[in-house]
Amino acid sequence: MIEQLKEIEKTALEEISGAEDHNSLNDLRVRYLGRKGEITAVLRSMGQQPPEERPVIGQKANELKDKIEQLLREKENQLKEESRREAWEKEKIDVTLPGKPLFRGRLHPLTLISEEIKDIFTGLGFRVAEGPEIETDYYNFEALNMPPDHPARDMQDSFYFTSDILLRTHTSPVQIRVMEKETPQIPVRIIAPGKVYRRDDDVTHSPMFHQIEGLAVDRGITFADLKGVLLHFAREMFGENQKIRLRPSFFPFTEPSAEVDIYCVSCGGEGCRVCSHTGWLEILGAGMVHPRVLEVSGYSPEEVTGFAFGMGVDRVAMLKYGINDIRLFYTNDYRMLRQF
Ligand code: PHE
Repeated sequence: MIEQLKEIEKTALEEISGAEDHNSLNDLRVRYLGRKGEITAVLRSMGQQPPEERPVIGQKANELKDKIEQLLREKENQLKEESRREAWEKEKIDVTLPGKPLFRGRLHPLTLISEEIKDIFTGLGFRVAEGPEIETDYYNFEALNMPPDHPARDMQDSFYFTSDILLRTHTSPVQIRVMEKETPQIPVRIIAPGKVYRRDDDVTHSPMFHQIEGLAVDRGITFADLKGVLLHFAREMFGENQKIRLRPSFFPFTEPSAEVDIYCVSCGGEGCRVCSHTGWLEILGAGMVHPRVLEVSGYSPEEVTGFAFGMGVDRVAMLKYGINDIRLFYTNDYRMLRQF
């Protein structure tokens, strides 16, 4: 009997260590430990053995049972560990695979143009200044030489909150705010980009649009300085051969005043639909700072002079990119935005 148990032990060890999966382990468990298993068979046949040998055989058989149980458990764990490792290895990352492209954000065309304009003027020594979009009547009109009944106020149909507070109709109030703060220091050289609001709405006018104001105040500034700066800007923005044209105009806060055109970027001056067959396109208003504007801001028109200009950023962007409807800037259509 003892011999038989040794034999069982030997084959059980071999078979358990050779088992390759859970199913064959289960079969072995049944075969050795089950109710009709080999060890159970030995215990059952103990009755036929001499009484003095029974305790020894019983003890050996139970020891073997424990041993096989433990081996089965160990093998079970080993198999689990192996299959976990296999799954993990299959999951390994192949770093040589091409990556998934990330969605890349891009800048709005108006931001691009605005940055470009800022770069050109900061390159000339202008500094960027800002002012509020909600403005008082004083800064938007009165300090700019437009008293309450001045007819020039009609040029800019406005959005009012109260009779005294409105959405600024242009960036010119920043001129006053900057000069008030800087006086009596010279030189003043700023550009002021920002949103402005007017009651207008069609293919070339949006109720909200963008301007960049320019202001230079110093001793001895002349109209020729204004012209030189604007010509430099036009060439940097639209190409080496750009030309500008100044037409006499009127703004209450500049004297003399001009409207400034560039050579039509669409036809190069030949005349086409974009420029209404004139060969020229208007991009800004400008002039020499009116003495009264200098005065209310704390500067003496006896000592200093200045020039100012106000440029339509949307308009510059439309010309530069060949966009014929200003509303495309504000409808956030990805088909349009993705082109920049
Ligand atoms: N503020 C004027 C406008 O919006 C433009 C301008 C600015 C003209 C500065 C002269 C000087 O029409």
